[in-house]
Amino acid sequence: MDKLIIQGGKPLRGELEVSGAKNAALPILCAALLASEPLELDNVPRLHDVATMARLLEQLGTKIVRAGEHMTIDASGVSSVEAPYELVKTMRASILVLGPLVARFGAARVSLPGGCAIGQRPVDQHIKGLQAMGAEIHVEHGYVTAQASRLRGTHIFTDMVTVTGTENLMMAATLAEGETVIENAAREPEVTDLARALTAMGARIEGAGTDRIIVHGVERLRGARHRVMADRIEAGTFLCAVAAVGGEVLLARVQPETMEATLGKLREAGARIELGNDWVRIAMSARPRAVSLRTAPYPGFATDMQAQFMAVNCIAEGVGTITETIFENRFMHALELQRLGADIALDGNTALVKGVPALSGATVMATDLRASAGLVIAGLVARGETVIERIYHLDRGYERMEAKLSGLGAVIERRS
Ligand code: EPU
Repeated sequence: MDKLIIQGGKPLRGELEVSGAKNAALPILCAALLASEPLELDNVPRLHDVATMARLLEQLGTKIVRAGEHMTIDASGVSSVEAPYELVKTMRASILVLGPLVARFGAARVSLPGGCAIGQRPVDQHIKGLQAMGAEIHVEHGYVTAQASRLRGTHIFTDMVTVTGTENLMMAATLAEGETVIENAAREPEVTDLARALTAMGARIEGAGTDRIIVHGVERLRGARHRVMADRIEAGTFLCAVAAVGGEVLLARVQPETMEATLGKLREAGARIELGNDWVRIAMSARPRAVSLRTAPYPGFATDMQAQFMAVNCIAEGVGTITETIFENRFMHALELQRLGADIALDGNTALVKGVPALSGATVMATDLRASAGLVIAGLVARGETVIERIYHLDRGYERMEAKLSGLGAVIERRS
């Protein structure tokens, strides 16, 4: 199993390009199932999760051609509607094939994802929404089986804001008969990007980016070309690294308008931020100030940036309170950060982080994707050597992270 070895304390300087967004690419890949003509995608990140999704789609009978950041998905020859446990258990986003399969083929059999390191993460809202659209759904033998001759438009109110839930239902509704209204919809930019891809395919969608999405069902979708949005979480992770360890970095190919909560907190921490249309420059010359935050659905502070800010707070001046409201078990990194000398007190879903002047390198273990990113940031700032084990979590969602950081002057290497 690969590990990362980091010699901490080197400021980061230079320029790097941010990749396409994992959490936009995954649903958009599934959207290809809705049409019998190819969907062409640009700016597809080279990530393990994308490779897993491509494998799942190929197993269903789609043809995929990949050349660098370009990918073509041709779902004209889909021959199976079953997403098996072996693939779904490694990536929860596999549940995103459920809506498209039942909408286009009238049937789907998708394994239930099961538990996960950051929380229970049920998919009841996906199921409830599809039932409201007329699908007959059974959950048995660990699989969700859905059937419908044609889905019907309806009024759906989700019990909580769910990103992939909104995406699954929005995709299903594109081919339903009549109008579907999704209330309490997720407003995440990745949902909007998916709506853009679907619209290019001929879907009729209003209100993406608001909490009320209206989809007018059409008979069929066609092929299209779409550029995946920039990864706001990858960008935010590099910005946090600079805030923690100091230096000056320009991030290119980003969408700053999707990053307001993160940029606001970085300014509060004392970072100097400059913005252009598609770039962000950060400069940090002093120890950061601790920030307090509370995760919330977009446009609130992203849960996917929580671990990275906890790492910044660990070496900040002052005390910061971090409250996690989206997932019930997303503080696993706190215990690992403590192994590096951080002063963190956990109380339920709140972490009180008292900044210490320095962390000291140690061996730590990555527990999930964003926790790993927080540990990398802490390792970049810690004195001496930090070894991060189980970095396969990191590879799921960050493209060549160690190469990108080395390019900025970090001393970091991957060892098998
Ligand atoms: N929830 C339910 N029932 C449902 C759906 C969700 O109870 O049917 C609960 C979840 O358990 C959670 C809350 O609702 O407590 C919100 O979960 P959501 O459904 O929004 O999360 P998700 O769609 O499974 C996506 C991202 C996550 C990100 C969350 C929150 C993708 C592929 N994944 O997950 O990304 O943390 O939204 O923004 O888009 C990551 O990239 O590291 C990652 C975990």
